[in-house]
Amino acid sequence: MAKRLFTLVGVRPQIIKASMVSRTIENEKGIEELIVHTGQHYDDAMSEMFFRELGIPKPAFNLGINGGSQAEQVGRMLVAIEKKLEDIQPDALLIYGDTNSTLAGALAAAKLSIPIVHVEAGLRSFDRTMPEEINRLVADSLSQLLFCPTKQAMVNLANEGITANGFQKANLVGDVMFDASLFFRKNAQGPGFTLPSEYFIGTLHRSGTVDNPKYLSMALKSLSRMGKVAPVIMPLHPRTADQIAKNCINMKTLGIKIIKPVSYFEMLYLLENCSGVFTDSGGLQKEAYFFKKPCVVLRKNTEWVELEQIGAAKIAGIEADSVVDAWQSIKNNRIDHKTKLYGEGQASQQIVDRLMTFMGKT
Ligand code: UD1
Repeated sequence: MAKRLFTLVGVRPQIIKASMVSRTIENEKGIEELIVHTGQHYDDAMSEMFFRELGIPKPAFNLGINGGSQAEQVGRMLVAIEKKLEDIQPDALLIYGDTNSTLAGALAAAKLSIPIVHVEAGLRSFDRTMPEEINRLVADSLSQLLFCPTKQAMVNLANEGITANGFQKANLVGDVMFDASLFFRKNAQGPGFTLPSEYFIGTLHRSGTVDNPKYLSMALKSLSRMGKVAPVIMPLHPRTADQIAKNCINMKTLGIKIIKPVSYFEMLYLLENCSGVFTDSGGLQKEAYFFKKPCVVLRKNTEWVELEQIGAAKIAGIEADSVVDAWQSIKNNRIDHKTKLYGEGQASQQIVDRLMTFMGKT
C-alpha cells in the first residue's frame, strides 16, 4: 500500500519549492502526497497564481489561517494542523523552509509522533531576532529526516549535534530552488510592460525592516539612490505595501517603479534581464546568483554565506551609503560558476529517493 505524505505549504516560496518535489513524487509509485495549505499567503498573486503557473495540483485543504501576531498565527495553525493530521493519519509530514507555517507543522506533528521531513534544513543567520531563525531552530530539532541545500547547512547541523544523535539523519542534496530555476527557465515571461534597457530589481519584505517606519524609509531611500544608476523595479510584497500606505510614503518622489507581486515566470524574466538585485529576501539572493547577477543584501546577515564568500553577494544593511558602496564593490566581480554551490539541479530527485527509503521504513 502507498505511504501517505502530508505536505504543508503556506507562503509563496514554499509553493515554488514544493512544485519541484511534488512533480518528482508524482512520477514515483509508492507515495501518495496530500498538499495542505495553511493560508498564510492568501492573495491570488501570492499563492493561487503559483499553483496555476507551476502546474501543481490544488491543495487538498486550505486552512485559511493568516494575519494576527506571530503567536496568534502559529497558535491557530497548530490547532488546525493537528486536527488535519489526526484526520489524515499520514506516515510523514513534509515541511519547507522557515516560516510560521513550517514551525506550526513541526510542532503539531512532533506532538503526534508523526515523523517530520524538513527540506531546506540547517540554514542559520545566527540572528535570533528574526522570526525565521526561531522557526528554523525548532523545525530542525524536531525533524527526523533533514535535507540540506549547502555544505554550510550540514556544518550548522553538526555543530548542533543533530547529525550525530542517531535519531536524526541529515543529507546534503542541493537546493530545490536551483532545480526550479533550471526547470522553469524556458518559461520566463515578460511582465506585461516595456522594461528599460537597464534596470535593477528591488524587493523588501522582512518584518524586521518593513514594520519599522524608520528602517523602511532608510531601505527605500537606498533603493532610491540606486535609482540614479539605473531604474529600480520593485514588485511590492503585501506586507511592505501596507506599511508604505500606513506611513504615507510617496513612492513617486523616491523614483522607484512599484509593480504588483510578479509571478515566478515573470520573476525569472526580470532576473534574466536585470543588471543587479537589491533585496532582503533569502530566495532572491540565490536566484540572482543562478542568473549571474550581482546582489546587494539589505540585511545585517544572511543564511547563504557562500554567496558572499565567492563575491556574488554583499551584505550591506539598509543605509544608503553602505548599499551604494556594496554595489560598487561587487558589480564587476568575476564569479566562478563552475563550483556548484547549490548542487547539480537534482535535489528534488535525491529528496524523493531518500524519502521513499525513509517512508518504506515508517
Ligand atoms: C513570510 C515568512 C518569510 C518568507 C515570506 C515569503 C514567516 C515568519 N515569514 O513572511 O520567512 O520569506 O513569507 O514571502 O513566516 N499578506 C497579504 N496577502 C498575502 C500574504 C500576506 O495581504 O497574500 C499580508 C498579511 O496579512 C500580513 C503581511 O502581509 O499582514 C505579512 O504576511 P506574513 O504571513 O507575516 O508573511 P510574510 O511577511 O510574507
